[in-house]
Amino acid sequence: MTVRIAPSLLAADFARLAEALAVAEAGGADLVHVDVMDGRFVPNLTIGPPVVAALRRATRLPLDIHLMIERPERSLSQYLESGVDWVSVHVEATPHLQRCLDMIRKAGARAGAALNPSTPTQVLSQAWPDLDYVVAMSVNPGWGGQKCLPTSFAKIQRLRGESREAGSHVPIEVDGGVDATNAGDLVAAGAEILVAGTAVYGQDDPSAAIGRLRAAARGGVRV
Ligand code: DX5
Ligand code: ZN
Repeated sequence: MTVRIAPSLLAADFARLAEALAVAEAGGADLVHVDVMDGRFVPNLTIGPPVVAALRRATRLPLDIHLMIERPERSLSQYLESGVDWVSVHVEATPHLQRCLDMIRKAGARAGAALNPSTPTQVLSQAWPDLDYVVAMSVNPGWGGQKCLPTSFAKIQRLRGESREAGSHVPIEVDGGVDATNAGDLVAAGAEILVAGTAVYGQDDPSAAIGRLRAAARGGVRV
């Protein structure tokens, strides 16, 4: 099993995003996680399509766009047209999950569904064939720097089991409070993509911090 490390730009200096991308490349990141917040689905507000397009032009790393926005089907095409690689929408934000996932795939990107901590996994029972990944939120979305909720481990295990029962292997991404102390256990629970903001850009040497996360993640890989 390959574990992917995805530094989250939310914890970087927003006036120096190009430098943050360079650090992710130098540290050997697999993806760059980009948090789009609309001030409605979550109280916080971050960036929109023009900044996502600029980020796309500034790095060769795949971009993982986490849309924390209401009714993503209304603005999804604006994010997709910049050629992003992975895009997730929140199941709580749309009555049209299947349409959103279909739009993402048709644009050539990988389609993900994100679940808030209190959202039951069964919400995905009809969605597995349309999914390329699932984002298990391990904090309530809106801010970086929160602690990983202890219920996240069992939820990741359930998602892993339900994906298997549905006959598909859908990688689980875990987002929120991921650091070198819990990365191994999260991977052991079934996570294959680790998003980390504070544990990368909040550190003195963000590039080395990516290496520490990767080493910690390896401890959880079952051989
Ligand atoms: C939270 C965001 C996360 C955030 C994680 O709403 O979705 O991606 O950047 O930050 P840390 O790793 O600091 O919890
Ligand atoms: Zn995120």
